[in-house]
Amino acid sequence: MSFAQYQKTCQQRIDRVLKHSLSNQDSPASAQRLMTAMDYSLFNGGKRVRPLLVYAAAEAVGASPELADCPAAAVEMIHAYSLVHDDLPAMDDDDLRRGMATCHIAFDEASAILAGDALQTQAFAILSASNSHLNAQQQLAMIRILAQGSGLFGMAGGQSLDLQAVEKTVDLAYLENMHKHKTGALITASVLLGAHCQEAVEPASLLALREYSAIIGLAFQVQDDILDVISDTQTLGKAQGADEANNKPTYVSLLGLQGAQQKAQQLHEQARSALRPLGASASRLQDIADYIVARRH
Ligand code: IPE
Ligand code: IPE
Ligand code: MG
Ligand code: MG
Ligand code: MG
Repeated sequence: MSFAQYQKTCQQRIDRVLKHSLSNQDSPASAQRLMTAMDYSLFNGGKRVRPLLVYAAAEAVGASPELADCPAAAVEMIHAYSLVHDDLPAMDDDDLRRGMATCHIAFDEASAILAGDALQTQAFAILSASNSHLNAQQQLAMIRILAQGSGLFGMAGGQSLDLQAVEKTVDLAYLENMHKHKTGALITASVLLGAHCQEAVEPASLLALREYSAIIGLAFQVQDDILDVISDTQTLGKAQGADEANNKPTYVSLLGLQGAQQKAQQLHEQARSALRPLGASASRLQDIADYIVARRH
């Protein structure tokens, strides 16, 4: 199967799992607006990179996709919540996401805040629900991984570093730390969630996967910074040039376009070597590393 086909299969699979996990909830009529805002924010054409990583990491350690369904849905819900809040006027103040009006524009600010809140808690509800595929110890480990990747020491902490840096001059060490938290932490969580689908994952494999995830997590945000400069609004589905307009420090603003592109290439090579100990079972993870730095949106 080509990577494009694999990606499509995973996207269709995760869409089914996500639909099921929202539709399965008792929804009192009074919360219909919230449910609609959550649905809108989940099913508006995301690339599903984090679920893809969960499935590919599970495959790399010999676990089946069935085991990866719940953690893949959980991390995508956290990601969707992070974008809804990222776009709010108090943060990046963006009107366009995935080619559509952002949640607070399509609904209202309160609904967007609540949709983010409820997507976040729903992620942990999915991970902790009785599950015939994962045992309680695996579920607990996954809850910890996702909490770590989302909160103070992960995405939310990184978003705070991002907002503190607006209109300030920061150095490369600050920028790298910020990117590793705001974007890298959830990417690392995705890979580790996939790895924990296998009960007896080898410590050496876990180490290699962790290293790989840290590298591609940074590469993903470096490429996001590059695309903000070189792409166009229609391709991106979000406003091109938003970082410059908001005076955000990025890899391009610190290193220049060429410097940022070189950084992405270096990280790409490092990611491929990090996977070497895993051998052929990690071929999809290799494909994903290629995709992350080659993607056009
Ligand atoms: C965008 O993430 C925000 C970042 C962390 C850079 P994605 O590029 O994965 O966004 P979607 O889910 O495909 O829209
Ligand atoms: C967002 O980074 C990272 C998140 C935790 C959501 P950006 O602000 O660069 O993401 P985009 O460019 O709006 O998607
Ligand atoms: Mg932002
Ligand atoms: Mg943003
Ligand atoms: Mg960006």
